[in-house]
This record gives sequence, structure tokens and C-alpha cells, in this order.
Amino acid sequence: MSQANREITISILKYDPQDKTVEPRFVDYKLEETPGMTLFIALNSIRSNQDADLSYDFVCRAGICGSCGMVVNGKPVLACRTLTSTYPEGVITLLPMPAFELIKDLSVNTGKWMDEMSKRVESWIVTNEETDISKVEAKVEPKVAEEVFELDRCIECGLCLASCATKLMRPNFVGAVGLNRVARFQMDPHDQRTDEDFYELIGDDDGVFGCMSLLGCEDHCPKNLPLQNKIAYMRRKMVSVK
Ligand code: SF4
Ligand code: FES
Repeated sequence: MSQANREITISILKYDPQDKTVEPRFVDYKLEETPGMTLFIALNSIRSNQDADLSYDFVCRAGICGSCGMVVNGKPVLACRTLTSTYPEGVITLLPMPAFELIKDLSVNTGKWMDEMSKRVESWIVTNEETDISKVEAKVEPKVAEEVFELDRCIECGLCLASCATKLMRPNFVGAVGLNRVARFQMDPHDQRTDEDFYELIGDDDGVFGCMSLLGCEDHCPKNLPLQNKIAYMRRKMVSVK
């Protein structure tokens, strides 16, 4: 067998919370690695050839939809963007992301959490101005628009939460994704909320004061968002609220 076609072992934590008769257990799958193989390809191969019951999530396969986050050899990553060749020892352990409701095996409910977080931080433009679609939208300084678009690149994958010690200790913590969202609206000139209004949303230990600055979120964000910078910025803003 050539180096390109080595045999790899993928060890997956399998568990169905709906089936109380079967305990969580690791199942090992051996397969031949092909050139350019991603974890997405490997999991599809396992499901097609070895275990039709295996559950995991993928949609875009291109690092865009944010649905394929999982913990690989201890680190949260997007599985569709992760090559099996990244692991030279050829043994790859897959776990579902913590901090989210487990659906089954590697599939977790990030959508439900993101939806609840969006409502909690009121993730929408708040303004008293009437919407008039016949009017041209007010201009925004290009530099400000760029900064807002930069934060809008979040794909809601949840990797920042899966790598956040505060989130694991404090279930209601809004995490870097939530604080990034608030920073996005705080910077948007269309939004008329004051810092006092934002304080009501995130001015506590489940919000911006809960972050312990361990940097796990920024280290693992696949979009390289400036999360710690924005959390520090929001914290300075919130501290100044009387
Ligand atoms: S901030 Fe980064 S890691 Fe967190 S959900 Fe958004 S893209 Fe994913
Ligand atoms: S499948 Fe869409 S980000 Fe991985």
C-alpha cells in the first residue's frame, strides 16, 4: 500500500439520546485514505460502506453553511475543510461538539441555540424610522460598512462555543458569536440603540463580563473573525455605562 493509500482509523463516539438502551460508545472504522480526502469524504465512505446508521451534518461542503462542526482529535473544526492527511498518525477521533443539544452521533442542534441567542441579543436593526422602500437607503461610510460586513462573515458554525471554557461552565453564556453579533449592530449606523440598551442585553456574566479571555474562540474560528478584539471593545463600552 503506498503512502497516499495508507489505512486510517476513524474512531467515532456513537450515541442516540432517544435510545436509552444503548450507552455512548466509540466505534472504530478502518478505511483506505485517498488523495485529498476530507473528513466529509471519509464519513460519506463510512456511511455508504460500513455504517448506514451513522449521523452527521453537512450541507455546503465548502466552509460556508457552518453545519459540519465537530471535535477532531480534541479540537473543534469544520469537517468539510479538514483533510485526513492533517493527522499523520492516521488515527482520528471524532466527537460531537459540546455546548449544543446532541441529536445523534456527530449531529448537534446548533440552529436551535443560534436562534435562541439571536432572540436574546435582539439580533436585528432597531430604529424608530419608518421604512420607506421608495427612498434610497442612507449612505454609510465605506470604512464603517466594511467593518460591519467583516463581522457579518460569521457562519454560525458554533466552533467558538465548542472551544469556550466559559460556555462549558456557564450554559447561558452568549459566547463570542453572540457578542460579535451585538458588536455588529452597535457599529451599524442604521441601528439607533444606545450603549445603555446594549448593556441591558449583555451587561452581565452571561454576556460580555463572563468572558475569561482564554482566546479559544479566536483560535478556532474558521473565518478568522477578530472576536477577542470585539469582545474587549464591547466590554470597554459596557463598563462606561452608568
Ligand atoms: S464567530 Fe467564528 S467560530 Fe463563532 S460561530 Fe461565527 S464563524 Fe463560527
Ligand atoms: S458543510 Fe458547510 S461548512 Fe462544512
